[in-house]
Amino acid sequence: MKTQWWKKAVVYQIYPRSFCDSNGDGIGDINGITSKLGYIKELGVDVIWLSPIYKSPMFDNGYDISDYCAINPEFGTMKDFDHLLEQAHGLGLKIIMDLVVNHSSNEHPWFLESKTNLDNPKRDYYIWQEGVRGGPPNDWKAYFGGSTWTYDETTGQYYLNCFSPHQPDLNWENPDLRREIHNIMRWWLDKGIDGFRLDAISLISKPLADGSLNFPNGEMKEFIFHGPRIHEYIKEMRSEVLKHYDVMTVGETGGVRPEHAVIYANADGSELDMVFQFEQVELDGSETFKWTDQNINLVELKEVLTRWQNQLFDHAWNSLYWCNHDQPRIVSRLGDSGALREKSAKMLATCLHFMQGTPFIYQGEELGMLNYPFKDISEYRDLESINAYNALVLEEKRIAKEDMLRFMALKSRDNSRTPMQWNEKPNAGFSAGKPWINVNPNYSEINAEDQIHREDSVYKYYQKLIQFRKTMDIITHGDFQLLMSEHPDLFVYMRKFNNEMLLVTCNFSYEERIVTLPEGFKTGKILITNDETQVSNESRVLTAEIVLSAFGALVLTNQ
Ligand code: GLC
Ligand code: CA
Repeated sequence: MKTQWWKKAVVYQIYPRSFCDSNGDGIGDINGITSKLGYIKELGVDVIWLSPIYKSPMFDNGYDISDYCAINPEFGTMKDFDHLLEQAHGLGLKIIMDLVVNHSSNEHPWFLESKTNLDNPKRDYYIWQEGVRGGPPNDWKAYFGGSTWTYDETTGQYYLNCFSPHQPDLNWENPDLRREIHNIMRWWLDKGIDGFRLDAISLISKPLADGSLNFPNGEMKEFIFHGPRIHEYIKEMRSEVLKHYDVMTVGETGGVRPEHAVIYANADGSELDMVFQFEQVELDGSETFKWTDQNINLVELKEVLTRWQNQLFDHAWNSLYWCNHDQPRIVSRLGDSGALREKSAKMLATCLHFMQGTPFIYQGEELGMLNYPFKDISEYRDLESINAYNALVLEEKRIAKEDMLRFMALKSRDNSRTPMQWNEKPNAGFSAGKPWINVNPNYSEINAEDQIHREDSVYKYYQKLIQFRKTMDIITHGDFQLLMSEHPDLFVYMRKFNNEMLLVTCNFSYEERIVTLPEGFKTGKILITNDETQVSNESRVLTAEIVLSAFGALVLTNQ
């Protein structure tokens, strides 16, 4: 019997490379994570999602796997992992792993065999095509630059790589390949892990025509999401593997809309438990072209999140997130990086954590960490950012250097990958050696040591939000109604469950804003607020309206 425990769970994402370095080589590692389990437990979360720690040549920081059942030596050993899992379980923390099976590394033994000759039994584990008129099979552009096709001299054919040439796409059409993946999943689940985050999973079924792979010209994204056999593959994964374990799964599903999510994350349990949508993060232009200085528009953000809340209600389950290892920091994006940093971080957390779904907190988000003040290309480590700079500035000269550096400082994935800020010691207490990527110079002001001891910290505020989710059924089960949908600065919504109601009010601006209280809240009780001036009158509101200060947030209950 499935318990659906993940409906009340909160997940904490760790990017191992940047979390805690236990041996001074500048790279975060498994023993570093184990040493911080107490901190994670104290926050109140239930599940840890580990970004990849498998053996990898690290062209994409582990999202290019060369052995799915081994640990990359710079992160430690399998013994270290077993110890981490045991310690985490001892504390009541679950661990889910990142499963990257749209592609492998080009150093995976499957690929090394696959490319040797046309008749190799592993040839069909990847997607090989003949060139067309002396060039690649079609004109698709890969996510991380260049063609999606890489020519391989040994056999004179091209292989498909939707991300980078170091990440050849696996051929899910091949039943042997699918069986290998099921075996890998069972191997980890039998070890006792508690589920998977499935990387780029909406891309695994490639376009078909007359039953064969087919790659027409055009914009790759038009062809690559939710391919013809996608739901068959995921249902098979469920029946072959997942249904035999009481675990959670979350799919990273580029291109997904609520109408797809109700299939991918159907409440009937036939596929995944939930998916990550990208609509909310693409509002700053990244869907079409990431390198701009466009901002997220609040009215659009409200429309997107409301559509997801309402269309999935009773049909599927939402994931909730502001941050992950592919996104810049949310306070830099939608909050204030100066004097109101903590207040705005709490407002953003309030806005998300009263919605229906499973919240994901990305390391450092609970401290209100900010983007890194990148100035120079030499400070970047991420292949996506570096490749884009080389292509757009140096080769194609489409963007002036100064503009591109400004866009990268706003949008680069490296913003979330700078080391976790533990304390005010050198390197923020992350490492005794030289960190693989710079530490944000603001660490003496923003660090965990300060926040776990300070009652009004962002960390303590997250603790409270997490506890509300555990104790209040309305957060898990209540319905969702957006109010003031056209207001450019206010995000106001109501949750209802039986006779209980919650009113969540958030001010995304630097100005005072007024919310007229709906019926039922005129004598409402304040559940939580980030604004001390509100807490005076016995935590009851006795007026018809509330005044929210800059980045203020206030949650009322009618109880
Ligand atoms: C996902 C990961 C990202 C990675 C890409 C290729 O989007 O989140 O970090 O680069 O897949 O695996
Ligand atoms: Ca290390």
